[in-house]
Amino acid sequence: MTQPKPALQPSLFPYLEHQLSNRPDNFIPIYEPSLGPREEEFVLNAVRSGWISYLGEYVDRFEHEFARFCGVKYAVPVCNGTVALHLALAALNIGPGDEVIVPALTFIATANAVHYTGARPVCADVDPVTWNMDPQSVEKLITPATKAIIPVHVYGHPVDMAALNALAAQHDLWVVEDAAEAHGAAIGERRTGGLGHIAAFSLMANKIITTGEGGMVTTNDEALYLRCRHLRDHAMPPGRRYWHDEVGFNYRMTNLQAAVGVAQMERVEEFIRRKREIAALYDELLTTVPGLTQPVEQPGYTNVYWMYSVLVEPAYGLSRDELIPALRQRNIDSRPFFHPIDTLPPYLSHTPCPVALDLSRRGLNLPSAPSLTDAQVAYICHTLRELAQ
Ligand SMILES: Cc1ncc(COP(=O)(O)O)c(C=O)c1O
Repeated sequence: MTQPKPALQPSLFPYLEHQLSNRPDNFIPIYEPSLGPREEEFVLNAVRSGWISYLGEYVDRFEHEFARFCGVKYAVPVCNGTVALHLALAALNIGPGDEVIVPALTFIATANAVHYTGARPVCADVDPVTWNMDPQSVEKLITPATKAIIPVHVYGHPVDMAALNALAAQHDLWVVEDAAEAHGAAIGERRTGGLGHIAAFSLMANKIITTGEGGMVTTNDEALYLRCRHLRDHAMPPGRRYWHDEVGFNYRMTNLQAAVGVAQMERVEEFIRRKREIAALYDELLTTVPGLTQPVEQPGYTNVYWMYSVLVEPAYGLSRDELIPALRQRNIDSRPFFHPIDTLPPYLSHTPCPVALDLSRRGLNLPSAPSLTDAQVAYICHTLRELAQ
């Protein structure tokens, strides 16, 4: 006889309770992970093998498969995208007294990772068309204290890396890609993860592939790879147990996480293909909706549309902040763009980033999971057309 399921005590999980009670069956979430029988099979294998911590076959496989996917020599699996960024910066010896240039329009983790090293994040403005870090703004912010630049491929469109790499070479700066939102995005044939000196990815549940929580550092530089591995494991040299030659971290990914990751790698190309198909459908159906500016894909670039996003212009009739609850009422989830980093309490700055501020007020992420059906995209676009005034 099966045991009755213990009732969930909602008061212990107020966030979960709120999420579930507000979600009708036909609710279209902003994102959801695509998990299938292979994820289940591999996680079970890991559990049954007893290798559930950082040693195990899936960690090694994931490392190699992810590196191959990015077209780089090395990958270092870690426990989330924020620590992937921190580990990359730590491996570069970024620290107190240094400045690191980040785009104003990004998730706060980009700036926080800089802060954790003791360095100061300095915000560059972004390009009004791609929404990515603007190399001209970056150039103006370079000082003798600048040590690195973190281009963020925001919402899935790669940054103009040729311009940034040229600037970095001229000023002897490190380039740390924040590719948290851009797995598989490319410039020409070259994918993110190999477009700077070192890169960081997030593998959180709403990312293009996921391990639940998780992250990855990638690089073509062997010395940086070895240093990341060293620092990830409390700076313990191989062969010398419990000897630690500097202050390191425990940023290791577990075999359980990697089991999910290896299964996701089997489908990553399919996720990207479907996401681009969904974006093309949004593009087509939204063309005639007045007042919505669509995302771009610059010639020679591959946008993976982590979030298919639009700018809500005055011609739409409703403001972005009026549109979000109106969509929600019609069971469509959406998100506002990030607040510019320089407007957030920990990083308030008097150096304005007007483009980032403007985009942040008008930008809207629409549902973007690869599991979206064409009918759902059509319903979202139809609703956006109906709501236009
Ligand atoms: C641009 C960017 N950087 C870093 C991160 C941090 O990744 P994680 O949530 O895995 O720590 C995110 C995650 O959402 C992100 O969007």
